[in-house]
Amino acid sequence: MKSNIALIGFMGTGKSAIGQALAKKLGWRFIEADAMIEQMAGKSIPDIFQQSGEIAFRELEIEAIKRVAMGKKQVIACGGGVVLNTINITRLRETSVLVLLNATPATILKRTSQSGNTRPLLAGADISIDRIKGLLDYRRPYYQRAADITVSTSKLNISASVDMIIEKLRAYAGIDIQK
Ligand code: S3P
Repeated sequence: MKSNIALIGFMGTGKSAIGQALAKKLGWRFIEADAMIEQMAGKSIPDIFQQSGEIAFRELEIEAIKRVAMGKKQVIACGGGVVLNTINITRLRETSVLVLLNATPATILKRTSQSGNTRPLLAGADISIDRIKGLLDYRRPYYQRAADITVSTSKLNISASVDMIIEKLRAYAGIDIQK
């Protein structure tokens, strides 16, 4: 039996907003992997990327996932690139059901520009639907390989997304989501 729910998926697919609402509904703890990384580094994600580079960020991410995967009754919102290192998926899979959130490139562009866009990988003048499509095309196989359950969030609001995840988790049966 798995004891955590890990939300994976591209930036802007709703991992944080849906994760918080899902945790509240289940009475579980909500953990944002990016917030753990910021705490560990003592600086923001943009500062980590800018001062130390993406590889240093990925190393911190591996450590954060290792720690969080040991807990129980947590909804974990993972950063969008967590699937790029197999070790993260191996560790998450030991304790967590991996729920992939999908969204269309147009939805991702809308959501990531709405939230002020502090994401280093989508920053700069060239943030466009083509950049998102390119990154998504590259990552799609990683997301699909890692996912136990998939939910498309483009046409669902937060509460409908939460209900859909719960419905699919019940059918999945490898996790006890009763309080
Ligand atoms: C990243 C996604 C971000 C954050 C970092 C890298 C990625 O998290 O971890 O900027 O590689 O997709 P969100 O998916 O929560 O935006």
